[in-house]
Amino acid sequence: MQTTIESKPFEQIEADALIVLVFEGKRDDRFGAGELFDAGELTGKVQEFTLLHHPVGVAAARVLMAGAGKPEKFDSAELRRVAGAAVRYLKAKSVKRIALALDSGQAGAEYISAAFEGAILGDYEPDRYKTGDDKKAVDSFAVAAAPAPGLEAAARRGQILGEAQNFTRGLVNEPANRLTPAKMAEAARQMASEFHLECEVLETAQMEALGMGALLGVAQGSAEPPALIVVRYRPETPGGAAHLGLVGKGVTFDTGGISIKPADGMEKMKYDMAGGAAMLGAMRAIAQLRPPIAVTAFIPCVENMPGSRAQRPGDIVTAMSGKSIEVINTDAEGRLILADALTYARRQGCTHLVDAATLTGAIVVALAHLNIGLFANDEGLRDRVLVAAKAEGERMWAMPLEDDYKEYLKSAFADLANVGGRWGGAITAAIFLKEFAEDTPWVHLDIAGTAWLEDSKPYMAKGPSGVPVRTLVRLAMDWRG
Ligand code: BES
Ligand code: ZN
Ligand code: ZN
Repeated sequence: MQTTIESKPFEQIEADALIVLVFEGKRDDRFGAGELFDAGELTGKVQEFTLLHHPVGVAAARVLMAGAGKPEKFDSAELRRVAGAAVRYLKAKSVKRIALALDSGQAGAEYISAAFEGAILGDYEPDRYKTGDDKKAVDSFAVAAAPAPGLEAAARRGQILGEAQNFTRGLVNEPANRLTPAKMAEAARQMASEFHLECEVLETAQMEALGMGALLGVAQGSAEPPALIVVRYRPETPGGAAHLGLVGKGVTFDTGGISIKPADGMEKMKYDMAGGAAMLGAMRAIAQLRPPIAVTAFIPCVENMPGSRAQRPGDIVTAMSGKSIEVINTDAEGRLILADALTYARRQGCTHLVDAATLTGAIVVALAHLNIGLFANDEGLRDRVLVAAKAEGERMWAMPLEDDYKEYLKSAFADLANVGGRWGGAITAAIFLKEFAEDTPWVHLDIAGTAWLEDSKPYMAKGPSGVPVRTLVRLAMDWRG
């Protein structure tokens, strides 16, 4: 899909369909739509679409009156969703060339970026392995807005972010037979070389030399060797001494290992690398947008399998940090691989850490599919992440992380157990990670409930959502100090 920004009046834009926003409670008489308003057919409610053919007074062949809701509630996040839903609505009707008219109130940089992001996200389909010839595609998407400083940059930013998020979604959609840890490393290498980032992949022997016993313990049940992907971005002129480490869980498939999961729904566990894929998506955008802070991604990739060499419940492993861990449940594997990745990131000089992981079913119980669970050992970094998330419309909710919870991870035989009992499972998982973040400011994002859409949304296809790519990129872009 080609994207452009058009400065001519929207009436003159030639397109197969022109999207215009209509608001709840605001009678709109353009294109003769006043009648429809009066009849109650057009209300301006969010996600309500009315397609007008042969509209009078515009060059476009159709006008799509797109409901944008109450004007006082309208923001860039809503525009992102409306643009995405409108693109999906029109695409289903085989419309190829789409334009969106924004009036001066909605033409600020945030809105322009969000419009392009929404269109690009809405256009994505998880149909790579479908062989039919009935696949629909949009050729072009233009935003019509009066010329203003910064609009081109905002459009470019929106395009970069939308494409980065779709890159993440594409990786997450790959099934585990096609995306092994080695293949994920290959995808990272390719992305890095395309966008001029440094990429290094640590293999088993290097991990052994570094003492990554927690990560290797998980990997040993699979015939697929593990990989620790490291992708580095360095700014030309750093704004300060900060070095942000992005650590993402890359379990290409989670059977649970010897503590095996039930068959029902297990196919979804291909998305257990969504945190790692989000870090790669974020790096892809960071490489193009060039924030003033050094950013390095660390993605431990393994397949959690119950092979004959698999670790057993009761096994005790020694993590790179030196701590011993009793593996009570082999299905709590994410925290084991992240433990070593966090230690490695610290030793590589990261001053701030953010991890993202499909870590626990318990976070889905706590927050359902609406909010990412956020845990932090540092209020400053927590607030930076929350501010970035709010601006990007990626919902996050701060969860408790008091030291008293450490009690639950006591082991009679090792420094820590890898599970904390029945209650507060997302919190005890975060407490486990905190032991390895040590005194480095760190935020943990549990995305188990939000990285996968169970059903399609009007603005997005079913499957991977691509969170929290946009938040991570904004965190880096807005970094000061
Ligand atoms: N990958 C799962 C967490 C998960 C669950 C992600 C549902 C997405 C949807 C993780 O490795 C896991 O299995 N966690 C266990 C931990 C338990 C054994 C303490 C869980 O949440 O049940
Ligand atoms: Zn698991
Ligand atoms: Zn897992």
